[in-house]
Amino acid sequence: MTIEKTAVALAIALAVSVTATAAEVIGAGPAEFENRCAVCHGLEGRGDGPFAALLLHAPADLTRLAADNGGRFPADRVRRMIDGREAVASHGPREMPIWGRELLIEYQHSSTGIGAPETYVRTRIEALVDYLRGLQAK
Ligand code: HEC
Repeated sequence: MTIEKTAVALAIALAVSVTATAAEVIGAGPAEFENRCAVCHGLEGRGDGPFAALLLHAPADLTRLAADNGGRFPADRVRRMIDGREAVASHGPREMPIWGRELLIEYQHSSTGIGAPETYVRTRIEALVDYLRGLQAK
């Protein structure tokens, strides 16, 4: 790992651990997005977050998902992309964190333990999908 990569990994780990608490308290898409996604995708989701320049691939402009898909928001693809567990199995490593796994770990470490682990992960991802649906350029 280069120093730059290590710094990025550390900063992400930090961002993620800070978030867990904020998102737990607020529990909604906007806070989760700001805390976990904006570093790369930017506060407005345009792919211009502070880490964007350090990545090999530009983070997607998340306001154009519907426009680039014939005007229809590709909810299912977005859901699978955020989760990432399936993509990793089929395509190998990627730069975007595997949120399905992060959320599962968060569930296992939380004392609340509401519902089944998979339900927890899916509910959190769904809040993000809803939030992204609202960000789409008209
Ligand atoms: C470390 C930087 C980073 C973080 C943090 C990050 N992403 Fe990404 N994201 C990327 C990159 C880079 C891509 C482009 C695909 C790739 O190379 O992995 C991407 C792609 C995506 C895509 C696919 C867009 C498409 O065209 O299909 C979605 C959806 C997405 N991110 C949502 C999110 C959400 C939601 C979060 C927060 C939970 C998040 N990202 C956090 C870097 C990041």
